Amino acid sequence: MINTTIAHKPAGQFEDTRFEKIHNVVFSTSNEASICVAQEIASLIREKQANNAHCVLGLATGSSPIKVYEELVRMHNEEGLSFSNVITFNLDEYYPMDKNSMHSYFYFMHQHLFNHIDISPENIHIPSGTVSPEELHQYCIDYDLKIKEYGGLDFQLLGIGRTGHIGFNEPGSHYNSGTRSITLDHITREDAAPSFLGINNVPKKAITMGIGTVKKAKRIVLLAWGHNKASVVKETIEGEITSEVPATYLQNHANTTFILNEEASQDLTRLSTPWLVGPCIWDTQLASKAIVWLCKQTGKSILKLTDKDYNDHGMSSLLVQEGSAYDLNIKMFNKIQHTITGWPGGKPNADDSSRPERANPAKKRIIIFSPHPDDDVISMGGTFDRLVEQGHDVHVVYQTSGNIAVSDSEALKYAEVIKDVNPTFPKVDDIIRKIANKVSDIEDEIEVRNLKGIIRRRESLAATRFVGVPDENVHFLNLPFYETGRVKKNPLSIVDVEIVANIIASVKPHQIYAAGDLADPHGTHKVCLDAIFEALKKLKHNDYMDDCWVWLYRGAWHEWDVHQIEMAVPMSPDQVLKKRKAIFFHQSQKDDVMFQGNDTREFWVRAEERNNDTARKYHKLGLADYAALEAFKRYHF
Ligand code: F6R
Repeated sequence: MINTTIAHKPAGQFEDTRFEKIHNVVFSTSNEASICVAQEIASLIREKQANNAHCVLGLATGSSPIKVYEELVRMHNEEGLSFSNVITFNLDEYYPMDKNSMHSYFYFMHQHLFNHIDISPENIHIPSGTVSPEELHQYCIDYDLKIKEYGGLDFQLLGIGRTGHIGFNEPGSHYNSGTRSITLDHITREDAAPSFLGINNVPKKAITMGIGTVKKAKRIVLLAWGHNKASVVKETIEGEITSEVPATYLQNHANTTFILNEEASQDLTRLSTPWLVGPCIWDTQLASKAIVWLCKQTGKSILKLTDKDYNDHGMSSLLVQEGSAYDLNIKMFNKIQHTITGWPGGKPNADDSSRPERANPAKKRIIIFSPHPDDDVISMGGTFDRLVEQGHDVHVVYQTSGNIAVSDSEALKYAEVIKDVNPTFPKVDDIIRKIANKVSDIEDEIEVRNLKGIIRRRESLAATRFVGVPDENVHFLNLPFYETGRVKKNPLSIVDVEIVANIIASVKPHQIYAAGDLADPHGTHKVCLDAIFEALKKLKHNDYMDDCWVWLYRGAWHEWDVHQIEMAVPMSPDQVLKKRKAIFFHQSQKDDVMFQGNDTREFWVRAEERNNDTARKYHKLGLADYAALEAFKRYHF
């Protein structure tokens, strides 16, 4: 769904459904959305310039506005957009925080915006993380006064935290709060933990503009991208105003727009269950989504649904279109049934008209792309095993080195083993010293990074050998965008795309598997997927690509919804155990994982629970009772 108009529609005219209380626009991608927001900001700056006026912008940090800033910088460079009349006030800063630290919002704003535009330094205001505790109270009052002196904020850009915070106004914040210091919520600190290399390094406090300050802005635009934000976005737009979700206060602001991508908007009632909202155009995709939902609501399997069930749940128009529940149930049951196959590479000599994959060629060349060195076995270890067993020419391609996810203690262990084997091994003392003396927020030096990369490479080879792939079919791309030594990566470059395109061109695959993890727009999985999509665009005119089908697994964190699944590969209990063993070869990612996120289960547990859960969902719909299922969705390029 693309809607490129973000102008605010007055209250009473924007409600697409009776559920929504904040104007919102959904874009297919965060990139398109960000460009649109940057255009709104640029027009405002130009309009003010034409009137010889200041333009007062309230700005946010975090992953959400990065592309907006990138686009503003592009407009400055290529279209002469000047920021000479712009005054900025940032929302927040960690406290205490040195402005030169790479974790400071001061650093962030200069890196992403201020260093690249013609704004006067005296027009930039970012709360200072170095004010003394005694001066802090007055400092915050003065920050609000300064905004007032400039006539208030003309435009406020916001992100939203999973707690529902705007700025750092965490749950409990008052509607009339001013700029102040605040204790960060645990969830907020967890979300920041990866970039601080652990939650213990994340500051506990921050200075934030208050809700009272933000709500005085003449225009507010809030950005939210990704699946992770879907539930808080729904709560904010559809829920009651509550201090427990401070962003809901924006329901009272007459000129606010939420800019969302599809993943962030997916829980809104009008999109998740549109049949409850108004008339629907029923295609097969929507019908299967609705039927899966209806089974859940009624606790019935597909073949037990009745006309009354459909009518009682807003789906009578589907019945009108399809005839009776009886016909519709059988059609949908068969559709889902046909997604199940034990032959992910196609079943040779079998009728493939209702199978997910082609029978021919019987032996396929296959590439499994794995963003990190372990996603292959975590997300599709069972399917991987079947493809090898069924005789296909399987290549595994690890896109990044995964080096930053190896802890210092793990690297030290290997360095000490090397030293014990050969005390004069070149540079080993140097490496041990570098690891032992490392200060927490400093990036690893190149030798240490190399060692960490080698550890992951060797673990991967142990796992691929266990599955039965010859070493020459295992490729390590070490894509350059990843090699910053820090959590923050470089943007995807043509070099990355070229490397991915080269491996596809050399294998000429009939099947490609890739991680379709769209949850985090700036995460490594998404960048790795973009690299593949770009490479496919580049190569699609070659004849061999006509025979290439692309299947997306969902990455390490989530699974496809049942109605999205186009191929489901069952695993027996023994295959589940084999997959577990393959995951165990990635020892550096076991136990105390560095980038665990907020799910504390180990990777193998997550993988098993997710595959069991898919099997359970299929069974509840009335399909066979498997131990586990791995799920894929086809990507058409
Ligand atoms: C940042 C800020 C925060 C973020 C929010 C979302 O200045 O005030 O409210 O906007 O935590 O962060 P991201 O965009 O990283 O998901």
